[in-house]
Amino acid sequence: MASNGYDLWLRYAPVEDQTLLTTYQEQFQSVYFKGGSSKLDVAQKELKRGITGMLGQNIVLNPSFSDKNTLIIASAKNLNTAISASLEKDLKDLGEEGFIIKSINTNGKNVIVVTANTDQGILYGTFKLLMLMQENRDLSAINRVEKPKIDLRILNHWDNLDRTVERGYAGFSLWNWQKLPGFIDQRYIDYARANASIGINGTVLTNVNANALVLTPRYIDKVTALADVFRPYGIKVYLTARFSAPIEIGGLETADPLDPKVKQWWKAKSDEIYQKIPDFGGFLVKANSEGQPGPQNYGRSHVDGANMLADAVSPHGGIVMWRAFVYSEDDATDRAKQAYSEFVPFDGQFRDNVIIQVKNGPIDFQPREPFHPMFGAMPKTPLMIEFQLTQEYLGFSTHLVYLPKLFEEVLQADTYQEGKGSTVAKVIDGSLHDKKITGMAGVANIGTDINWTGHPFAEANWYGFGRLAWDPELDSRDIAKEWLRATFSNKEEFVNTMEQVMIDSREAVVNYMTPLGLHHMMDTGHHYGPGPWVDNLSRADWNPVYYHKADSLGIGFDRTKSGSDAVDQYAPELAKRFNDPKTTPEEFLLWFHHLPWDYKLKNGESLWNGIALKYQEGVDEVGTLIKTWGKMKPYVDAARFNEVSMLLDIQLKEAKWWRDACLLYFQQFSQQPLPAGVEKPAETLDYFKSLRFPYAPGN
Ligand code: GCU
Repeated sequence: MASNGYDLWLRYAPVEDQTLLTTYQEQFQSVYFKGGSSKLDVAQKELKRGITGMLGQNIVLNPSFSDKNTLIIASAKNLNTAISASLEKDLKDLGEEGFIIKSINTNGKNVIVVTANTDQGILYGTFKLLMLMQENRDLSAINRVEKPKIDLRILNHWDNLDRTVERGYAGFSLWNWQKLPGFIDQRYIDYARANASIGINGTVLTNVNANALVLTPRYIDKVTALADVFRPYGIKVYLTARFSAPIEIGGLETADPLDPKVKQWWKAKSDEIYQKIPDFGGFLVKANSEGQPGPQNYGRSHVDGANMLADAVSPHGGIVMWRAFVYSEDDATDRAKQAYSEFVPFDGQFRDNVIIQVKNGPIDFQPREPFHPMFGAMPKTPLMIEFQLTQEYLGFSTHLVYLPKLFEEVLQADTYQEGKGSTVAKVIDGSLHDKKITGMAGVANIGTDINWTGHPFAEANWYGFGRLAWDPELDSRDIAKEWLRATFSNKEEFVNTMEQVMIDSREAVVNYMTPLGLHHMMDTGHHYGPGPWVDNLSRADWNPVYYHKADSLGIGFDRTKSGSDAVDQYAPELAKRFNDPKTTPEEFLLWFHHLPWDYKLKNGESLWNGIALKYQEGVDEVGTLIKTWGKMKPYVDAARFNEVSMLLDIQLKEAKWWRDACLLYFQQFSQQPLPAGVEKPAETLDYFKSLRFPYAPGN
């Protein structure tokens, strides 16, 4: 079935297996599904759409029960007593968003029941039923009880009001502010469908580098229109709050969070928003970071700032997501240490409706970072994790990189904060320390491109983020399989081959960009391509040389006790492990250590040879990917097949560019030849250094 990718994983392609098709048709012969609320109405619409597509038949949704029913979709209070009694135990634990899909024997025959405590649960259950069918699963003995493990499952759009997207590589912003509120783009609805189908229940519409204008009445009306579109899908709208807004749009002289007039201004502003959007989610704030204003401008702390905003939204049930992505230009020690140093002492001082949003690693969304040491270190403060779906540092929307593999690695990392097994996932889902609010944010990779994300495979990163936000214990491999089946094909040869390709794609990008713990070597500003030589930016910690510290003696950032001592921000077990290169996992070696070029790696190679071979391995992995994709032609429509093929060719070129530029640059210090097996660079170092990209996207 041809596709331009617009349908994402909601393609509802015809079921090809004839036996299964017949079974499904029987199971959909008599459906009870009464509408009556906006949520149920969108669930019904989706069901009809899915069934028409997959089974090639229209279905009638009966508003009253009959003995003939083969499928019943109804919230618990509308089920007949025999069925609801049999599900009582499961229903009790289901909460507001969970659902049950179960095949139940009643009156001597099997009926599939989709039920929940709420209409929202019914909507999620309906989407899941359709997804299971897209995966061609047998429903005859189905028994699924699901509820999200995380409360806030939220996309962060770094979208500006002029429709550019900071670090966006998939076109312009979806939000057509000029035409809102009058014009509702079909995209808004399809965006909401896609999100609801994977359980995403919140969206921050605007960039963390915020513009106060969005808080003015004219824009609030536009935001209201979007909130109205998203509401039936269970998606709340949030905005970024520019800390200096009281000055910029409120006419005040200060934005000091302890000033009564400032407090009053935010309270009134919140009241104004909630009057139009009663379920407005709240604010996301980037304060005192990379030039953004914040409480520290007035000698106040993050606690003062966050709590002031929290008080403004709390009468309406709103929350504040306060970001921990802070690093000051005056700190001479180590950028990686700063967020922890600034925030951990405040543990327990934030209001109940504040959650601190922490990037997955201590620097900035690199191809690989150790987990952020704040996770597990603030037992009395809700922390949400922030992942980046848009590939700012991982090849934009040109490189095929399956990010759920990266997310899973972080989520499954053990913080040891309460002994062995204290994984980041358990910090995030609130089970390690009992937390009032839990959350996971993903910086969106979505724009106006026809396929939403630029690269057909980048759709999987949106999908996988939603799935992991629903359940951070999921296996990234299973997620890849679901997505492949729904998005491309159910053919086993295809799914099994591409699943492995997706899994391997993450390590490939680490290898050809920043192997063995290297990080932040992207060319600066736009972050497109390698720039390990860059050393001329105003702030030391914006320069790649700050991170790799290559010199004639060796390479890497010494974060041991005798270096910056960043290791000490981890639990004692890990601090000890990371402090010694011999016990540091090699994938983090140069993150924590500055080591001589002849340092011996576990495989017996010298560090120099090891680095060079890793770069080559990364390039080779892309080569393998291209060969494998070539064999997938019979399973994929021509349009998407060609698109991916072209993108993979660019990825290979860029992987070689990374390898050659970095190795030529480091070779100046190592003074050693490239080991056997590593291809000779095609260009000189000067050539690579001369490249300029003034119009690289996303900047
Ligand atoms: C990175 C990114 C910025 C972004 C920042 C943030 O530094 O390059 O564009 O604003 O992260 O997360 O705030």
